Amino acid sequence: MPLLFRKVKELRNHLHTLRCERNASLGFVPTMGYLHEGHRALMERARLQNDITVVSIYVNPTQFGEGEDYERYPRDLERDMAVCEEAGIDVVFAPTDKEVYPPGSRTEVYVRELSEVLEGKFRPGHFKGVATVVTKLLNAVQPDRAYFGEKDYQQLKLIQRLVKDLLIPVEIVPVETVREPDGLAYSSRNVYLSPEERESALSIYRAFLLAQEMINQGERSSDTIKGEMERFILSHPHVKKIDYIEITDPDLNPKGLVDRGDRILVALWVGSSRLIDNWKVL
Ligand code: PAF
Repeated sequence: MPLLFRKVKELRNHLHTLRCERNASLGFVPTMGYLHEGHRALMERARLQNDITVVSIYVNPTQFGEGEDYERYPRDLERDMAVCEEAGIDVVFAPTDKEVYPPGSRTEVYVRELSEVLEGKFRPGHFKGVATVVTKLLNAVQPDRAYFGEKDYQQLKLIQRLVKDLLIPVEIVPVETVREPDGLAYSSRNVYLSPEERESALSIYRAFLLAQEMINQGERSSDTIKGEMERFILSHPHVKKIDYIEITDPDLNPKGLVDRGDRILVALWVGSSRLIDNWKVL
């Protein structure tokens, strides 16, 4: 079993000893738990590239808005510990709220502009919560490398910016999205979906394939591609609403004409679940 730490001080002492005695390199996978294949890919990469791998499990309250799913977000530490053991993780850090946000906390981290577009428009405050907690976790663990999935592409870009701006000495390693065999991207939130809703959720991946096919056939207009994707997705019965379909360059600047390497980003509601996904144009 991996060693489980609840307190920053104890975690730091342990990691300090490992680093000094063994001169070990440290890989870090921050998560909110309820670990799935997407997390496994992050852990595997971290294990390959480092001597010691640390996983954090913390459902961060400040990145959930009012009326979002903080309370119902799935939690199961026992199961997560078993997944970490199987993945060969050395250390699990599962702090309490008090450890992460000491009483009287006043400090927040805000990444301008990147926090305001796409997800930021629909989830005000979300990225301030993410940036703040990731800064704290990186400070607590002080890894050589930290691993983030491309599934949350905007989060990945924001964290790359954040570590650059705050001079945090860590390499951010992006890991490709892992999909179920039928194309649905792994997410802890998939457990909310009924079988019928899951079928409608597949429209996201299929819309990416449709867009890619249009591009392969020579279509370059973002508006035309987004229009076709929207029409296709909305033809699925459990899709309640599309928050956005956007086509951007790799740095999230909107594009009128699509090129290889651009990103197509989607957020939508299936039943009462909000799902996000993205696609790198081939
Ligand atoms: O991607 C997540 O699971 C979370 O946003 C993160 C990075 C662990 C911060 O709470």
